[in-house]
Amino acid sequence: MARRRQLYEGKAKILYEGPEPGTLVQYFKDDATAFNAQKKGTIPGKGVLNNRISEFLMLRLAEVGIPTHFIRRLTMREQLIREVEIVPIEVVVRNIAAGSMSTRLGIAEGTRLPRSIIEYYYKNDALNDPMVAEEHITAFGWASPQDMDDIVHLTLRINDFLTGLFLGVGIMLVDFKVEFGRLWENDDMRIVLADEISPDNCRLWDTKTNEKMDKDRFRRDLGRVEEAYQEVAKRLGILPEAGMRDMKGPELMQ
Ligand code: TMP
Repeated sequence: MARRRQLYEGKAKILYEGPEPGTLVQYFKDDATAFNAQKKGTIPGKGVLNNRISEFLMLRLAEVGIPTHFIRRLTMREQLIREVEIVPIEVVVRNIAAGSMSTRLGIAEGTRLPRSIIEYYYKNDALNDPMVAEEHITAFGWASPQDMDDIVHLTLRINDFLTGLFLGVGIMLVDFKVEFGRLWENDDMRIVLADEISPDNCRLWDTKTNEKMDKDRFRRDLGRVEEAYQEVAKRLGILPEAGMRDMKGPELMQ
C-alpha cells in the first residue's frame, strides 16, 4: 500500500490524506494524555477499541439523522472520514456533575444536574483550552450564530440518543465532549459531527456499581484501564466474546 501523506498528528489520533479529494484517513493511536499532555501514557489496544466504538456510535447517530463525518472503517485502527473545517470549540455536555465542573463549582461528583448543561471550550493547547461563552464564540467568529444554533440542536439530540443507548447496556452517560465541522458541498455548508466519540471523551459509569469505565481510570490512576474500554465495547456488542484476540487482524497501515 502506498504511504499516505500525514496532515496532522494529535494526542490520540493522526490524520492522513484520503484516497479521494474531500476525504481523510483518521488513525487511532494507543497513546493517552491527560491534563493538556502533562500526563502521558499508552493504553494497549485503545486505538483499536476507540476506532470500533466511535464507528458504532457514529453509525447509530447517523441512523437517527445526525450528520457525521464518518464514511467507513478501513482497518483495525483507521477510518475513512469526510474532510471538514473543524469548528475550534470543544462542546461538553454534562448530565451528572463530575470532573472540572465539580472542582470549579464545588458540586459533589455524582450529583444529578437539574438539566443537561452545555459548556464550550476554545481549542487552544497553548491556552489550555479555556472555557468560553457563546458570546466569545460568535464575537470572535469561531462560529456564526447559525452554526451555534445547529451545534446546540445537534448536541442535545446526540445527548438524548446516547444517554438512552448507554442506559440500555447498563452505563450512565455522565458527560462527554464532541466536536463539529463544516462540510462543504459545492456552495452549501452543513455542520456535521466530527472527531470521535469513545471512552477517551466520555464519562461512563456502570449503572449498578458506579464504577468508572472511561479515561478517568487513566487520568486518576485507577488501574484496569484497558479492561474498562473493552467492557464498554463488549456491552455495545462490538467486541467478540473471545476478546481482543479476535480483533488483532493484519495492520495494513504503513
Ligand atoms: P472535564 O470535566 O475535565 O471538563 O471533562 C468533561 C468531559 O469532556 C469528559 O467527558 C472528558 C471530556 N474531555 C475531553 O474529551 N477532552 C479534554 O481535553 C477534556 C478536558 C475533557
